Amino acid sequence: MLQPRVKASKCLVSAFKRVFRPSLQVWARRRCNVAAIMPEAAGFEGVSDHNNLQEYSVSNSESFWAAAARQRLSWIRPFHTVHDCDLSRGKIRWFDGGKLNVSVNCLDRHVHACPERVALIWEKDEPGSEVKVTYRQLLEMTCRLGNLLRRRGVRRGDVVTIYMPPCPLAVASMLACARIGAAHNVVFAGFSAQALADRIRDAQSSTVITVNQGVRGGKVAELKRTVDTAVHSCPTVQQVLVAMRTENPVAMTAKDVAMEEEMLQEDVVCEPEAMDSEDILFLLYTSGSTGTPKGLVHTQAGYLLYAALTHRYVFSYHDGDVFGCVADIGWITGHSYGIYGPLANGGTTVLFESTPLYPDPGRYWEMVQRLKINQFYGAPTAIRLLLKYGDRWVQKYDRSTLKTLGSVGEPINTEAWEWYHRVVGDGRCTVVDTWWQTETGGICISPRPSGPDAEIVPGMAMRPFFGIKPAIMDPEGNVLASNHASGALCLSQPWPGMARTIHNNHQRFVETYCQPYPGYFHTGDGASRSEEGYYQITGRLDDVINVSGHRIGTAEIEDVVNQCDAVAESAVIGYSHEIKGEGVYVFVVLKKDVEVDEAELSRQLNVMVSKKIAKYACPDCVQLVQGLPKTRSGKIMRRVLRKVAERDFNSLGDLSTLDDPAVVQKIIQGHRDRSKKEQQQQTP
Ligand code: WTA
Repeated sequence: MLQPRVKASKCLVSAFKRVFRPSLQVWARRRCNVAAIMPEAAGFEGVSDHNNLQEYSVSNSESFWAAAARQRLSWIRPFHTVHDCDLSRGKIRWFDGGKLNVSVNCLDRHVHACPERVALIWEKDEPGSEVKVTYRQLLEMTCRLGNLLRRRGVRRGDVVTIYMPPCPLAVASMLACARIGAAHNVVFAGFSAQALADRIRDAQSSTVITVNQGVRGGKVAELKRTVDTAVHSCPTVQQVLVAMRTENPVAMTAKDVAMEEEMLQEDVVCEPEAMDSEDILFLLYTSGSTGTPKGLVHTQAGYLLYAALTHRYVFSYHDGDVFGCVADIGWITGHSYGIYGPLANGGTTVLFESTPLYPDPGRYWEMVQRLKINQFYGAPTAIRLLLKYGDRWVQKYDRSTLKTLGSVGEPINTEAWEWYHRVVGDGRCTVVDTWWQTETGGICISPRPSGPDAEIVPGMAMRPFFGIKPAIMDPEGNVLASNHASGALCLSQPWPGMARTIHNNHQRFVETYCQPYPGYFHTGDGASRSEEGYYQITGRLDDVINVSGHRIGTAEIEDVVNQCDAVAESAVIGYSHEIKGEGVYVFVVLKKDVEVDEAELSRQLNVMVSKKIAKYACPDCVQLVQGLPKTRSGKIMRRVLRKVAERDFNSLGDLSTLDDPAVVQKIIQGHRDRSKKEQQQQTP
């Protein structure tokens, strides 16, 4: 009975092949092409190039992300639900039912495959003194530290605050938290004691990890002393683990633990916790439009998958490449592309401790030559700064290993983009201007992935990543469907890397990101879409400014300025700054009978802001005014102040709703007098 059937079916197959051979070949080629673009997508029907892979990832997001999660992550238990999200309520869940451990994904599986591969290259402040750490060594360090934290009472779900410069022990600290199920809260080591204390208190951390001293640009920073001051006002803190970055001893208190000494007593094997996909991996504080920074929460599986996938495909990272992200670990870029993305991919990643100007403006490129960096990822502010020093600092060094150059954190102007491309990349590297946020967890809009020859327009983030569907909104909340549109940038559907909530304040998360355009994720940025459908980011639409690529809320600075004895009220705004992108401009109304000149007030405010927030947030300009432009209901009209700071006096717009329109002319006059004085001081 079977025989004829087989025969018949064989006949049928050959007839089918004769008729359909050409299309079968096309189909086979399509499968083959898509596997070359992204092996995870090999089974997707009808996908042949980047464009339709992107379309597929958006319209079949479940099957896209399921395939990616199964293939790219190692699971202890598989997930049963790909996603369960309701953006309008801020409910975001990915890979429910799944269990995994992030440190196992970043370390153990690579140690099994290639233990001696270099995981980290610590580019210390002193040039030429890099330290290489293999996957085996990093796992050992992480396990010892995981055991130490466990022995000292840190439990699953606790939040550990890390106040350290980029160094292998900082990475091991983050991964040790992940190993034992604690969440980490890395605070940028440039933040002041008060900013650190605010973050420790909000996170309710009982453990802080730090170093005795930091070293940056040849200068020593007393980080342990800053932690001591912060901890005074943090009753939750029970212990401070102190690693030794320099050989200089520091005063130790009863709470302090000599970290490296104690680590040596620990075992090199540390049982990883089986974490649920939606357990917290970390908190990271960032500025919003109110005075209080928000602790954005990222969870395990979705974040790691998104960081890994974007790292591989945006930068075209291949096994054996050396990835050089120069962002500090205290920012999301350091988390996703300094650590988690590269390590999840088994890559080699550089931890940069120094500054672009130390010991000279050739630092980045000397490092590229010495470490043979293949992908370099930096900030426009540094590019703008370096281009001022001229091409010779770049051309001195061999940059032939470079393949991709990335930019992040703020819009990159065409001049800086062109210089990056032409001089740094010798005109042959792919430049990717990547748009994303602490909230998005990873890159959402970028020129790549796309076909290797696909067009890249200078200074444009261009194309949404797989699974990302941007929408541009008008002020009434209508989606602008056509090309050649500009408005508020929203993301129309959830993606695995997005933040889940704000620590201790889900209501603020919903109000900030979900309610402004119900059903959409509101980014706070403006964007335009060109005729060709490419995206360009135009900047923040809220009261957040971007100084040297660092976010800061104007309200945070105003809070500090208003604490100054001489100040009655103030308004802080951002204005275009040649190097920093945006500078901080402060308009101040003095209290009655107080006499202080602008220079002296500016000195006082600089001290206060660096003490209470960080140096990068210090005012660039302080202008004394008799009154602020306010509406009759008392709201400061910041739009007018922005125009004044930009010297755009002829397009102030409608001033009819101002309580006292005369105030504006006085502010303009004050601004002119100020500029004149500055010019006089500059001319010898
Ligand atoms: C801005 C940094 C223009 C934007 C990863 C965003 C950008 C904020 C770009 C997030 C870019 C980031 N072009 N603007 N390529 N990348 N931004 O949270 O305003 O520190 O909202 O994350 O930086 O800053 P954050």
